[in-house]
Amino acid sequence: MSGSGPRLPPDRKPPGIAPRESRQRAASHRSAKARPNRRNGVSNRAMDSIYVSPINQDVKPAAPGEFPAVSIGPILCDPPVVLAPMAGITNAPFRRLCRGFGAGLYVSEMITARALVERNEKTLRLAEFDPDESPRSLQLYGVDPHYVGEAVRFLVDEDRIDHLDMNFGCPVRKVTRRGGGAAIPAKPKLLEAIVRSAVRAAGEIPVTIKFRMGIDDDWMTFLDAGRIAEAEGCRAVSLHARTAAQLYDGEADWNAIGELKQAVQSIPILGNGDIWEAWDALRMMRSTGCDGVVVGRGCLGRPWLFGDLAAVYAGNQPKNPPTFGEVMSTMREHARLLCEWTGTRIGITSFRKHATWYTKGFPGSTKMRDKLIRINSLEELDVILAEGDPDLLFPPRAMRLSRGKKGGRQKVSLPEGFRENLDDMTPPASEEPGDGG
Ligand SMILES: Cc1cc2nc3c(=O)[nH]c(=O)nc-3n(C[C@H](O)[C@H](O)[C@H](O)COP(=O)(O)O)c2cc1C
Repeated sequence: MSGSGPRLPPDRKPPGIAPRESRQRAASHRSAKARPNRRNGVSNRAMDSIYVSPINQDVKPAAPGEFPAVSIGPILCDPPVVLAPMAGITNAPFRRLCRGFGAGLYVSEMITARALVERNEKTLRLAEFDPDESPRSLQLYGVDPHYVGEAVRFLVDEDRIDHLDMNFGCPVRKVTRRGGGAAIPAKPKLLEAIVRSAVRAAGEIPVTIKFRMGIDDDWMTFLDAGRIAEAEGCRAVSLHARTAAQLYDGEADWNAIGELKQAVQSIPILGNGDIWEAWDALRMMRSTGCDGVVVGRGCLGRPWLFGDLAAVYAGNQPKNPPTFGEVMSTMREHARLLCEWTGTRIGITSFRKHATWYTKGFPGSTKMRDKLIRINSLEELDVILAEGDPDLLFPPRAMRLSRGKKGGRQKVSLPEGFRENLDDMTPPASEEPGDGG
């Protein structure tokens, strides 16, 4: 087997929340600065042109000083790259894996405010950070200014976070039909009240918000949302350049990111949508003028994308993607981290979906995936992977294969009378979290 996957430092402590005293971090710890691109176990050859899609063939690496670090309050994010919050995905083990390849800011999966306030055990677990994780970036979802304020006060008083992101982009039917998720920005006063409550409770901790372009093509909300964030003291905003109706379908409309950048000038604008190759990030920043990028599905089964991003932002060529042997090493590492974090039963079950993404596009992988989606232990994973050919090269077409969500649009479901009552500030009745943004 060639390659060894990203490695953890030998003195690595088990993941978990660090004791309060070890959280006395110097200001310098609050920076998400570039580390050397370790890429342990990942092929060292500069990227062959077969791995660069036609749309990116002429994109040049960053020129010196072209893309400065982005400041999110006191956090210096260098390069200006953010791991998108993804429910059920961007937990402590996945963030550790990604951090091992690159640099930037790595946001937690979405945590619901009400459950935090109620000290729900599972929620507290999801809100954990590795002892060495810095900055600690958490995404919160809440619909009620009261509970959002309570949740943020709890996080801040207990010194659990360095950055708070808020999710206003969830397009899921059961959420929007109650007026939650992506429907909230359509009610500017409610959005304002929730954001105000979070920013006040956060004190020195920087707050950012993440939202979509709007409900559908005829109902855009992103410019208002950006202006509200700016006025309420958010330190940056992220725009997923799709509407709620669009779900994950089609292409993100990067023009909207440029429009938001024009409209909201005093805080950084982070662009999100369809960064599959590191070159896409540079293209997005050059074409929209945005201050940083947020990377979601592109890193599913491809955490080394953060290494490619670190390379191009540093003015270098990225390396070739890993061979199957190297991919398998990363899979073992990812599965091991998950099992260590939650125990084997839950860890290995949650790894199954990652296994399908890691193997996507490799010749003959369909049969292997059939087995991988049934694994129950790390030993079973080893046995199945032992059948794989470690010398297989990464399939170029897998660079842009969509992962994590299906295509297809929807008609956005909203509460009855919603449109007639946009100034209403009554929080939606329940805080159904859905599955993200
Ligand atoms: C599986 C999955 C879960 C997601 N969960 C969340 C979430 O909890 N919060 C959020 O703001 N966005 C969530 N998103 C949306 C992403 O953060 C991102 O906005 C979206 O995937 C578009 O970026 P991309 O084209 O780089 O994937 C999720 C996306 C996926 C694929």
